[in-house]
Amino acid sequence: MTNIYAVILAAGQGTRMKSKLYKVLHPVCGKPMVEHVVDHIQELNTERIVTVVGHGAERVQEQLNDKSEYVLQAEQLGTAHAVQQAEPLLGDLEGTTIVICGDTPLIRPETMKALYEYHEANQAKATILTAIAEDPKGYGRILRGDDGQVAQIVEQKDATPEQQKVTEINTGTYCFNNKALFAALKLVNNDNAQGEYYLPDVIEILQKQGEVVAAYVTENFSETLGVNDRIALSQAENIMRNRINENHMRNGVTIINPENTYISVETKIGRDTVIQPGVMIEGASVIGEDCLIGPNSHIQNSQIGNRTSVHSSVVEDSQIGDDVAIGPFAHIRPASNVGNRAKVGNFVELKKTTLGEGSKASHLTYLGDATVGTDVNIGCGTITVNYDGKNKYQTVIKDHAFVGCNANLIAPVTVGKKSFVAAGSTVTEDVPDNALAIGRSRQENKENYVNKLNLK
Ligand code: UD1
Ligand code: CA
Repeated sequence: MTNIYAVILAAGQGTRMKSKLYKVLHPVCGKPMVEHVVDHIQELNTERIVTVVGHGAERVQEQLNDKSEYVLQAEQLGTAHAVQQAEPLLGDLEGTTIVICGDTPLIRPETMKALYEYHEANQAKATILTAIAEDPKGYGRILRGDDGQVAQIVEQKDATPEQQKVTEINTGTYCFNNKALFAALKLVNNDNAQGEYYLPDVIEILQKQGEVVAAYVTENFSETLGVNDRIALSQAENIMRNRINENHMRNGVTIINPENTYISVETKIGRDTVIQPGVMIEGASVIGEDCLIGPNSHIQNSQIGNRTSVHSSVVEDSQIGDDVAIGPFAHIRPASNVGNRAKVGNFVELKKTTLGEGSKASHLTYLGDATVGTDVNIGCGTITVNYDGKNKYQTVIKDHAFVGCNANLIAPVTVGKKSFVAAGSTVTEDVPDNALAIGRSRQENKENYVNKLNLK
């Protein structure tokens, strides 16, 4: 087996994005585009991945972390110069090197594999991934000789009007014989419209040396989109979104309106779950089977069991069990854990709270820093008073307790097993197991009070 290496070009500022954020860090379906590229290339069992960083180097390294090695391109003198920076790490190695731009997040691993296999089968020194574009403007054009072989790549800015009519474009992805690549890079000059060292010039150099240079034409132009501005960014987002949604649908998930359903790449969804319009699922979320995710729900980095429904609600960094009903209009804030068969109804907020199996908080309630046991009933309007302006305190409500409506539980406080808290109580002291706590002023009726008021 040939060793495979990868060089990812990610040093550019991305001027056309007009952004404070470095181009390759702009997210597509929630993941920075350069990370899509690295994740895709990893699927080729690459021996080493080297990312060329420059603008925003630290941020890019922070993001990709140990998924890649890094070389710095201090000055952006062009794509050939960028690849050259990897020479100290890769220059001496035998094998095949794939070079890919950090701004082409849509190229699928399958396409990279097909390119690689085509390259090996042809025993080429270089193979370019090309595509036929309806509107090739902005891309490098593939110029073929009379024999149909690739002769040269000419950049948009250097192309004659005649060459600009060519619709076969350079996707910016290539396979090279590693040693041939680094040898040819030394011969690239910057005698062109942009005064840059162009990586595509390597093709002409190798071709003129009589080496085999091939082109693998992918049928799927949309995959090869290079994101240079925010318009292309939204197009990439669309394409990626469709791809993700279609994958889920193929695997047995119903998505009512894929056009306005936003699911991250990492999300996993079980069979027969139905996703209604306007839903956004972010991060590494997991949703079980037979769930119903209702309109406009927003789920972030959360795990949801089977047969659970979430209606028009927000769930963040939390765990939700099986057969749970959430919402409408509930907010499950980070570090919450909702047990099987539990219910979190409308206008209920949970924060750092465990709600045990079968427990219910059906309406208008705030549970923060609370541990609620199993089969507990939390009445409408209950509040855990967890904050004194400086510190946060815990509330514990034990199994089978019944908290009446509009109770204030002043933390730290414990409500015992099977105990009752009378409606309207302000509970400042622990309630023993099996007790009834009433913490409210007694009602007094003033007989005939209205008659004394002397009203007309
Ligand atoms: C490049 C190709 C073009 C191809 C297109 C496909 C060149 C000269 N042109 O054009 O043929 O059709 O991609 O999308 O290669 N970068 C660096 N260092 C640099 C310059 C660029 O790391 O000095 C990185 C950028 O961050 C980017 C990638 O290389 O991720 C491509 O650079 P970009 O300026 O976007 O090239 P294009 O004009 O799109
Ligand atoms: Ca580009």
